[in-house]
Amino acid sequence: MKALFFSILLNHLGASGAVYKQWIPNTNFENASNWDRGHVPCATDVILFDKNKDVSVFVQSSHFLTEMSMPLNGEFIMGPGAGFGAFDGSYHPGCETESKISFTGAQRLQWYDPTLWQAATSLEDLRRGKYIFSTDEERVPCQYDDIIFQPQTSFRVNITSSEQFIHFRSISIMGQTFTSDDALAEYMQTSTAKLQFQGQGTFQLSDTRCPYKSGCECGNAADHDRICAALLQKYGNQCPVATCRDPLMPVGNCCEICGAIISLEYSAGFDIELYRNRILHTFLNLPKNTGVQMAISKVHKPKTFLGILPRSSASLIQIVLMDNRTGSQTGTHAEQVAKDIMSDIEEHGESFGIVANSLQTATGSHWSALGGGAPATVVGAVVGLLVMLLLLLGLSCSFTGNGR
Ligand SMILES: *[C@@H]1O[C@H](CO)[C@@H](O)[C@H](O)[C@H]1NC(C)=O
Ligand SMILES: *[C@@H]1O[C@H](CO)[C@@H](O)[C@H](O)[C@H]1NC(C)=O
Ligand SMILES: *[C@@H]1O[C@H](CO)[C@@H](O)[C@H](O)[C@H]1NC(C)=O
Repeated sequence: MKALFFSILLNHLGASGAVYKQWIPNTNFENASNWDRGHVPCATDVILFDKNKDVSVFVQSSHFLTEMSMPLNGEFIMGPGAGFGAFDGSYHPGCETESKISFTGAQRLQWYDPTLWQAATSLEDLRRGKYIFSTDEERVPCQYDDIIFQPQTSFRVNITSSEQFIHFRSISIMGQTFTSDDALAEYMQTSTAKLQFQGQGTFQLSDTRCPYKSGCECGNAADHDRICAALLQKYGNQCPVATCRDPLMPVGNCCEICGAIISLEYSAGFDIELYRNRILHTFLNLPKNTGVQMAISKVHKPKTFLGILPRSSASLIQIVLMDNRTGSQTGTHAEQVAKDIMSDIEEHGESFGIVANSLQTATGSHWSALGGGAPATVVGAVVGLLVMLLLLLGLSCSFTGNGR
């Protein structure tokens, strides 16, 4: 166990706690999904851009054109080797008939739409598609994230925000990385930037990673409603039904979930990266646990936590576990992993700086709550209160004991 601990520690010294968030959509000319016919225009096509939709369009290669109507306010960014030439009447396979084709890539997309970002803890993971799982508020850029708009892509995003400033560490746009507010402010004055970023919002770069080893809150609480509105639009403005009894609401999420939430109170020694690695190496990376996803982050403690007033510190560590099981099995795998983590905390929690913890679970089969950890005062009170509540409500509840 010591050896494992130290190997995790060593791995960790190289890590920086970075999160990279990459914007998914683009407005590229060669992207077939940006055209209403689902393919890139043919040489014989009449190309239509909506004249009222400002857009910047990256063109990667050369194209023959018959006719093209342009937006009033827009631009083409030509990559090396890109160009437009008049159609010379020569034969192009698949382009025998002339038809109208419209650019649909200029829809109004919101910065705060959690479905339009993918996140990873390294650039390598981002490239390999090894994305991290997180609550909805943390799926959009957080205050110490590195933001990436892929090189060789154009885009269009509405950055209207509820906060005066949108904070993050750095931003990379078309291959250029900005780490200083001055350089970014200068870029934001360009006509390209004005086509890329619309709406009321101002970027402010922190140019630093989260300074606390226990982690930093994401900082998107003020835009919670905006984030959830964008998300729920994809579900017909309603949360999908959670198929378990008494589903759980993680802090920072838009909809309730089935699975498990572990809440940790921590002392000065707690290191969130170290602990994340511990959970990954000890539990989630095991083959038997594929299908279980975890989000771990520092969150702002709700005013009352499980019905009691929180202790002095204003933040807690939230671990959300979900699985891909269905029906009566929904959430049971996440619940099992959560219980394993709780036992691990019981044994080693103190050495990680964990001072109190509680577990809530919701599965397709039953509902349960259990708490444990040292010192047990808060947890004991929580559990006691829950028991009382449950008895009062006449609900059936099952406890998995931890030897108390
Ligand atoms: C094309 O655009 C869509 C929507 O903007 C995006 O999801 C997709 O990743 C893009 N495909 C490529 C190859 O860039
Ligand atoms: C940007 O989005 C806001 C709503 O979040 C909307 O009021 C505004 O009109 C949008 N601006 C543009 C230019 O689309
Ligand atoms: C859950 O996901 C894992 C890994 O992707 C897969 O092997 C497993 O079959 C999935 N289980 C269900 C019930 O979909």
